[in-house]
Amino acid sequence: MSTRRENSTRAALEKKGLYHSFRLPDGRRLDGAMSLEAQDERLTPFNLPESLHGKRVLDIGPWDGYYTFEMERRGAEVTAVDYVDMDTFRELHRLMGSKAKYHQLDVYELDPRTLGMFDIVLCFGVLYHLKHPLLALEKICAVTQDLCLLESFVVDGGTWKQGIHPPVPYIEFYEMDELGGQLDNWSGPTVGAMEALVRAAGFARADIMHVEDASAGIAARRRWTNLPQADRPPIEIFGLSCHLHRGRSFRSEKEEYIALWCIWPAPGAPLLDVVFPEIDGFGIAPLAASLTANGLLVSVRVPPGLTPGQHWVRLKIGRSGWSEPLKFYVDLAPIATDLTISSIHDGVTLLHGQVDWKEGGWITIWVAGLSVEADAGNTIVELAGVPHLPDMVDPVRGQINVRLRPVIRAGEVELIVLHRGSKSNASMLTVTGVAPPIRGLEV
Ligand SMILES: C[S@@+](CC[C@H](N)C(=O)[O-])C[C@H]1O[C@@H](n2cnc3c(N)ncnc32)[C@H](O)[C@@H]1O
Repeated sequence: MSTRRENSTRAALEKKGLYHSFRLPDGRRLDGAMSLEAQDERLTPFNLPESLHGKRVLDIGPWDGYYTFEMERRGAEVTAVDYVDMDTFRELHRLMGSKAKYHQLDVYELDPRTLGMFDIVLCFGVLYHLKHPLLALEKICAVTQDLCLLESFVVDGGTWKQGIHPPVPYIEFYEMDELGGQLDNWSGPTVGAMEALVRAAGFARADIMHVEDASAGIAARRRWTNLPQADRPPIEIFGLSCHLHRGRSFRSEKEEYIALWCIWPAPGAPLLDVVFPEIDGFGIAPLAASLTANGLLVSVRVPPGLTPGQHWVRLKIGRSGWSEPLKFYVDLAPIATDLTISSIHDGVTLLHGQVDWKEGGWITIWVAGLSVEADAGNTIVELAGVPHLPDMVDPVRGQINVRLRPVIRAGEVELIVLHRGSKSNASMLTVTGVAPPIRGLEV
């Protein structure tokens, strides 16, 4: 059993009923567990402008609503979402003459299709209450247009201020009431873990704005700021593919990264903090930049919240100009298409209906009915029920090149093509020769 961490505000809350303190429009002051001064001090490090006119703001987990009403006082159009519908919030909403929208929603239910996007999102004092902090931050990223102010309990604030940073960021996990005696406290990140979670969720940057003994504030930004001046040629990207296949089609529910293959004349790989990928105008923290035989490979996350269809990625490195944008697809819808295989042959000998392991096991398939977006990310060749990822899909010519997997032995096998929910006719293929050994299983 882990050590309990105490919660100092609990007793004050039980005594006063309110968590936040308020100045009401009629001059009255309501005192909650947290003082007005402390509430304002929590906001100060984020340097929000006094006027937020024209901005849409989302307040996640507002409790009694101090920050909701404060954002409204600054002129923003505010929406507040909480997984409990609080009497205190509703009554203060009335007393403050607020027009803020209030929805009973769990953070995991945030969805740009229903709520729209927000210029600024406030997520104060919520992260450590969440069982799935990274998933929650992905949901938050998906509704953030520009900036999320994230403030949370952290486990290493005191030592972080002394310059002691754990070599690996970590998150304490509370199975029961180990944190503050409360069952709804799940996790305690280090400051470094908070930064890492923000980037992993799809934000461009995580800027630490303040660190206290038991809390930290991070500005999670969706846009690159202060980019280096562009006085060098643009980056040339000669290839875009998924890290798991050779296509440009991605599924948001899968763990898939965009691989950008770039021309790179310099002898060493650039540092990651000067690599600036952008998707549909949003910055996105790069995962890796490494040298390859032909240049530089930059790996980029697919950010959350992309709508089904076509999207664009571009790249700037250091003082380079922006690359040309390259197209990719996310969550292409299934289509009902008449997929018809007209012929199959060995990719080397060109013999019909056959493929020979001796020649490398390459197969060329001619098929009608592929959509214009067909590629190795949305097209699968099944041989004897075993999925094969194509090496090349050409929707214009209706050609698919695929290589046998070594689990396919000599004999007659059934071949079908699967594309965006449609299935072709079955064709028979004769496999000859001896399959090569599977790496690691050579005898
Ligand atoms: C400690 S209070 C923070 C209140 C206020 N944001 C602040 O920092 O002063 C935590 C708030 O998060 C809400 N909350 C906790 N888990 C949530 C979830 N999964 N989805 C939405 N709200 C949640 C709670 O109901 C509560 O209003």
